[in-house]
Amino acid sequence: MYSFKPTSMILSPFAKRNALLSCYLVLFGLLAQAKAQNSTYFNPVLPGWHSDPSCAVVDDIFYCVTSTFISFPGLPIYASKDLIDWKLNGMYAATIRYHDGQFFVICQYLNAPEGNIGVVFKSSDPYSNSAWSDPVRFKPSNIDPDLFWDDDGKVYSVMAGITLQEIDLETGDLSQPPLSVWNGTGGTYPEGPHLYKKDNWYYLMIAEGGTELNHSITIARSRNINGPYDSYANNPILTARGTDGYFQTVGHGDLFQDQKGKWWGMCLSTRSGPDWTIYPMGREAVLFPATWDEDEWPILQQVEGRMNGWHLPPRSRDVAGTGPFNDDPDRYDFSLKSSIPANLVYWRVPRQGSFSISSNGLLVVPSRSNLTGVIPTSDSDDALSLNGRRGLSFIGRRQKHTIFDYTVDLSFSPKEIDQEAGVTIFLTQFNHVDLSLVLLQQDNTANPSLFLRLRAISGGSTVDSSLTPLPEPWGPGFLRFEIQAPNATLFTFSAMPASEPQKRITVGAASGSLLSGNTGPFTGSLVGIFATCNGAGNEDTGCPEGGNAYFQRWRYTGIAQYISNETAIPTQGEHSLST
Ligand SMILES: *[C@@H]1O[C@H](CO)[C@@H](O)[C@H](O)[C@H]1NC(C)=O
Ligand SMILES: *[C@@H]1O[C@H](CO)[C@@H](O)[C@H](O)[C@H]1NC(C)=O
Ligand SMILES: *[C@@H]1O[C@H](CO)[C@@H](O)[C@H](O)[C@H]1NC(C)=O
Ligand SMILES: *[C@@H]1O[C@H](CO)[C@@H](O)[C@H](O)[C@H]1NC(C)=O
Ligand SMILES: *[C@@H]1O[C@H](CO)[C@@H](O)[C@H](O)[C@H]1NC(C)=O
Ligand SMILES: *[C@@H]1O[C@H](CO)[C@@H](O)[C@H](O)[C@H]1NC(C)=O
Repeated sequence: MYSFKPTSMILSPFAKRNALLSCYLVLFGLLAQAKAQNSTYFNPVLPGWHSDPSCAVVDDIFYCVTSTFISFPGLPIYASKDLIDWKLNGMYAATIRYHDGQFFVICQYLNAPEGNIGVVFKSSDPYSNSAWSDPVRFKPSNIDPDLFWDDDGKVYSVMAGITLQEIDLETGDLSQPPLSVWNGTGGTYPEGPHLYKKDNWYYLMIAEGGTELNHSITIARSRNINGPYDSYANNPILTARGTDGYFQTVGHGDLFQDQKGKWWGMCLSTRSGPDWTIYPMGREAVLFPATWDEDEWPILQQVEGRMNGWHLPPRSRDVAGTGPFNDDPDRYDFSLKSSIPANLVYWRVPRQGSFSISSNGLLVVPSRSNLTGVIPTSDSDDALSLNGRRGLSFIGRRQKHTIFDYTVDLSFSPKEIDQEAGVTIFLTQFNHVDLSLVLLQQDNTANPSLFLRLRAISGGSTVDSSLTPLPEPWGPGFLRFEIQAPNATLFTFSAMPASEPQKRITVGAASGSLLSGNTGPFTGSLVGIFATCNGAGNEDTGCPEGGNAYFQRWRYTGIAQYISNETAIPTQGEHSLST
């Protein structure tokens, strides 16, 4: 059923390291472990939509946060002991720092009615959602706030621009006016700044060039925190601009040291090649080694799929927290007493009661707004409701593998025309491809009947749509939907009776270009489920009765990662099948 033929296959880093290790163990016994060899690993280390990483290290754990824009819950925190296996935890952020026994996370809500709102959360236990403080609010002068503690105890925030302000973490007060400290080297959008102090220099590392093909990391330094900052002569210190690399848009990074004092960085990148047309996973987080000698400027290693750098800590899944590891497959049956898994995300904040676990699986109450909704022409309740701002009945997980297989079983007995439930690969409300079961009346004479509908939406318009009558003999049982990425540029959509998968029909296919850039330049694809009544009913009563959908047996299996336009790495099987 599934064929996957990459042009070359390489041993997984895990297998390779094990092979290497057993070699050394045989030859040199335990000496091998004491000897710090460089390690090989593959990027991205946080595949799938994980942009703007910021990281902090405490004891033997690396913590990173990434951006999530309007998906919910907001910015997740990942924890890792080995920089390769990342475990998901609750909470969200944009710069993460550890100071004096506390984690601090600073970020902001954009375009709130009262303008942008800056927030700082703190916690002594990053694994507990409830241990995070209520936010201290501040009025940001720009986006991408950083947090920096100077040796004299003063706390600063640099923001896009690049400006510097002292910040009071109790009150959220910022010193005024913001001090312009650097404008970068002339690229557009100097942003994503981080301030570091090393060898009595203040280093200001930023992103510039915009988050597209010109993206880059540049750096300046000063003996005085207020400047003047001198730009490094060899800027940018990291970029894929002008290269023919598979990993493009490299930029917006953060630097940190491991337990042995070796420097590393994380930044974002897009696996697109210079064509930059098909990259449905969007902006992913990559890891690179760095060298930063005393009094010298840091040297960051070029980002590629196969990396060789400082010796990595031993692989470990001994990390606290409740979420799955980033590379784990999903095997969710939504049986009673289970809860909604931590790696599933909503688009905007869902309405209360839209998702619940029932004896029949995950019960999804349809939203009046479908996944696209309407572009509002008024502020009426109905316009707000139908553009999805009053909640969308959608839940999904990141596409984290170039090649993957996703299936889910649906029980759905629509009573009213236009009631619909199904699966989607979703970049934004204006770019998604859906396969659903929908009740439609084809003409005035016929009775309403059930159809499999495949619909591709790009830029808010339907670019492709097909209706396939639900085969009569498939009966009333669970229907299984399947979305596959059989190669790096294509998605295929299939349906079958869950009890008779051999009756599988391929309903259609869609190009990955529909899920790349366009209305979602900052996001990456999610794969998941939805239920809607397509605008029927009204704002008070919601959808008409009878359109509830029940989902069971949710399976997402990563199959391979492309690390160049011609090389794929099979996804490791060691940790799969943890039901
Ligand atoms: C950055 O550019 C602005 C606008 O041109 C200017 O006012 C400011 O002085 C510049 N900042 C620095 C540090 O050069
Ligand atoms: C990259 O920068 C060059 C030179 O400034 C400019 O001509 C080009 O339009 C930029 N490309 C993108 C994708 O921003
Ligand atoms: C991969 O990319 C390289 C560099 O852009 C190019 O020369 C090569 O033809 C590409 N290979 C494939 C299979 O597209
Ligand atoms: C080990 O990795 C570091 C960081 O990337 C690099 O500077 C160094 O040259 C590497 N050493 C060897 C022997 O490859
Ligand atoms: C993916 O498969 C489709 C359909 O077979 C084909 O047209 C396309 O060229 C393939 N893409 C790649 C990158 O091989
Ligand atoms: C999606 O919802 C909008 C607003 O209710 C509606 O105009 C549109 O027809 C719906 N799409 C489908 C396929 O029913």
